[in-house]
Amino acid sequence: MNATILPEKTLHYPVLLNEVINIITPQNGGTFIDCTFGQGGYSKKILEYPNTKVIAIDRDKNSLHIASDLKKKFEDRFYFHNIKFSQIKDLKIDDEVKGIVFDLGYSLNQIKDLSRGLSFDSKGELNMKMGLNDFSAKDVINKLDQNELEQIFKYFGEEKNSKLISKKIVLERQKKNLDTQDLVTIVKRTKKKYYTKTNPATKVFQALRIFVNKEISELTRGLKESANIVSQNGVILTVSFHSLEDKICKFFFNHLSKQDNVSRYLPEKKSKKMSFSLITKKPVTPSSQELKLNSPSRSAKLRAIKKIGTHENNMNVFLKYENLLNIENFSKKL
Ligand SMILES: C[S@@+](CC[C@H](N)C(=O)[O-])C[C@H]1O[C@@H](n2cnc3c(N)ncnc32)[C@H](O)[C@@H]1O
Repeated sequence: MNATILPEKTLHYPVLLNEVINIITPQNGGTFIDCTFGQGGYSKKILEYPNTKVIAIDRDKNSLHIASDLKKKFEDRFYFHNIKFSQIKDLKIDDEVKGIVFDLGYSLNQIKDLSRGLSFDSKGELNMKMGLNDFSAKDVINKLDQNELEQIFKYFGEEKNSKLISKKIVLERQKKNLDTQDLVTIVKRTKKKYYTKTNPATKVFQALRIFVNKEISELTRGLKESANIVSQNGVILTVSFHSLEDKICKFFFNHLSKQDNVSRYLPEKKSKKMSFSLITKKPVTPSSQELKLNSPSRSAKLRAIKKIGTHENNMNVFLKYENLLNIENFSKKL
């Protein structure tokens, strides 16, 4: 059976759906964890195959109504949890898990919901919360100090003008509480040069979204736990949308699949046996046909690994990303 690309009545277009299905092979049944349920594009497709079961997760409670419709249809084969995927190990799973998928980032519905302030057109308060958050972008912009803002923009957004932008924010916020449009204007005015094709605030927005949703610790924890949970011959698959996310997935997958790994991130023991093998030596990207149908998929990169041996849980992915995790910890004072 070939996966259909166009979604039914949902706004969100499931990115790389054919490619995901070809790799996780639900055709033979089995239990799958969809860590980023969203509008349910992947889950629905998996459930089309008999003898499959889907355990779905999403931090956004707006996914609940789609999940409850699916539950009515597949009572014994579909389960939804409104949690963050960093909490995946808290799920009591008795089945063998054949595949764990992460379609990272935001659904189109979340971006189009102007109250979330994820898009440059949002008129209201700064927000950027995906769900189950402790603070919002409004707190970050109005409460963190200049140096902290600079590091967030520099390391989470790779923004070259991070120093100037954070300086200007700190000056402007003395006059009023800054909202989404104030932030866009500050970035536009501060940047000396920018190309009109992409909004000049793109990198600052990306940095704030990553910070507000603690995306670095979410991903590192989610991947680390998945390596323990997935069964022998099972697959972990990620679809990422920005380079920081992709770098983390690539590092994690490469290290799990390397033989005789002597990296300093594996300090305790040398791993003689590979516990995983790479399915994708290079990331899979959308076909020209998919790009025509859904241009936002252009930055998508799919990577996957398969469990082939006993997984020794000795990889300290947190050490590698210590610097970024320390920046995430600025939120402790919010
Ligand atoms: C790109 S969308 C997924 C779309 C989905 N594959 C589909 O076809 O409809 C990403 C989803 O992941 C959710 N998400 C992002 N980070 C998460 C996390 N750490 N824990 C749980 N859900 C998360 C978001 O709320 C969003 O709904």
